[in-house]
Amino acid sequence: MRNITTDFLVIGSGVSGLRAAVELARRGKVIVVTKDIPTESSTEYAQGGVAVALSDEDEVGIHFEDTIKAGDGLCREEAVKALVEEGPERILELIEWGAEFDKEGTKLAFTIEAAHSRRRILHAHGDSTGKELERVLINKIKSFKTIRRMQFSTAVDLIIEDGRCSGAYVLKDGEIITICAKSTLLATGGAGQVFSRTTNPAVVTGDGMAIAYRAGAVLEDMEFVQFHPTVLFAPAAPQFLLSEAMRGEGAIIRNIFKETFMKNYHPDAELAPRDVVSRAIISEMVRTNNSHVYLDLTHRDSEFIKKRFPRIYSTCLRYDLNITKDLIPVSPAAHYMMGGVKTGLNGATSIRGLYAAGEVACTGVHGANRLASNSLLEGLVYGYRAGVAAATEESGVQKGTVPDLRAKGSEAVESGLSPMGSNPSNFRSSELEEVRTSLRRIMWERVGIIRCGESLNTAMESLSRWSNILDMDFNTRRGLELKNMLTVAFMITESALARKGSVGAHYRSDFKERGEDWQRHISVKKKMDLE
Ligand code: SIN
Repeated sequence: MRNITTDFLVIGSGVSGLRAAVELARRGKVIVVTKDIPTESSTEYAQGGVAVALSDEDEVGIHFEDTIKAGDGLCREEAVKALVEEGPERILELIEWGAEFDKEGTKLAFTIEAAHSRRRILHAHGDSTGKELERVLINKIKSFKTIRRMQFSTAVDLIIEDGRCSGAYVLKDGEIITICAKSTLLATGGAGQVFSRTTNPAVVTGDGMAIAYRAGAVLEDMEFVQFHPTVLFAPAAPQFLLSEAMRGEGAIIRNIFKETFMKNYHPDAELAPRDVVSRAIISEMVRTNNSHVYLDLTHRDSEFIKKRFPRIYSTCLRYDLNITKDLIPVSPAAHYMMGGVKTGLNGATSIRGLYAAGEVACTGVHGANRLASNSLLEGLVYGYRAGVAAATEESGVQKGTVPDLRAKGSEAVESGLSPMGSNPSNFRSSELEEVRTSLRRIMWERVGIIRCGESLNTAMESLSRWSNILDMDFNTRRGLELKNMLTVAFMITESALARKGSVGAHYRSDFKERGEDWQRHISVKKKMDLE
């Protein structure tokens, strides 16, 4: 097994991983591993923007209040405080590094999204905000000779010695490499691919959450999954996000009979919180016996639409939908994980030497429901914080002592599966893909926007049929992803069963009220012990 030693290891190359890498690179050698090309992450696809209290009409305190309100009673106030107070500095610094946010005249242009009481969302190239952040941060890390990037490299598991994390086993070109580091930072993003309908790119399979779980880290708030209300629903078209910023600019949601309905569900109508809009759409789909509703921006000037939403306009046009003239068929999809690997305010997890930042982490900043466009800001603020803290970690590298991941011996089979451990199996690639598809469908149908005890128990039964996969060692990315998706699916379902009440994005039709002790956080640790 090849062995590489570095000072710091970052797993993931979205906004939080890259922002952390900048801080780490100032203090030592960094390796950034990413399982695809570096730009393939949720950051790259983030449209709407980045929320920050920088406009003349806004204040940090108002951004704080809006975030707390959206989080529905479960935000950690000190985490929100750090986010909103440090956000402006992180954004101004990014502008200094070359970020070009859209402007009105000479001033930054701010838009509005659901549950924001001020126009505070910066955007770039209309609807390609994440892509702009990624561009600037990749350029920035290229300026450091101390950063080495390893693409098409999949983290398999963390190296844990005496309860401390000292790096990770990484699969590259069919070979397992041991990367030893003083500190390791997870920045692998969320887990949207666990659901069959999702806005997340194919790489987002909950890897960081699963490997942290296997290493014994504490995860928290896993029942809180945010569903985005307006995602393209057209034959042969991808599950493409239609940014909430469209509703911010006046888009209306109509049912299949072209009737508006959001006012019947919430006084803020189209700009009600995301969970409310998603459930309203599902209710309307059931009431009208149809699989989608429509998003309508046709009343706005067509030149404005093309300029403000160029990526959405051109993507929809490829599927014969002209958003300046046509109603766009949409339905909700899984979008963002509020829960994840539990961290403190500097990204430290419950395992020494292991840090996490961004969507993989749960700082408590989003509570039970994330305020729209707070996630890119979180990536910048907490990526920075985790980077600074991880950089000062005392050495945990114990050269020559790292156990060989495959020491128990394994034999690769045709599928790329190495059936070692307690459950040898003869899975083939096609079976692997079948399980992946079924798992995603079960999660969408049974653990989706509206859940109940019966649907969650049915999901648990179905997932349990595949629990032997959790003990298998894979030597392909697809195999590892399936194991990780199953691990995360169990954590979400168990936590959703444990929360007998409806809070934020977690809605149970059998417990519509908040329930007893609703402000507790549900933790998950290996063996799925709920604390
Ligand atoms: C959107 O553009 O609607 C997504 C923004 C977000 O989820 O924060």
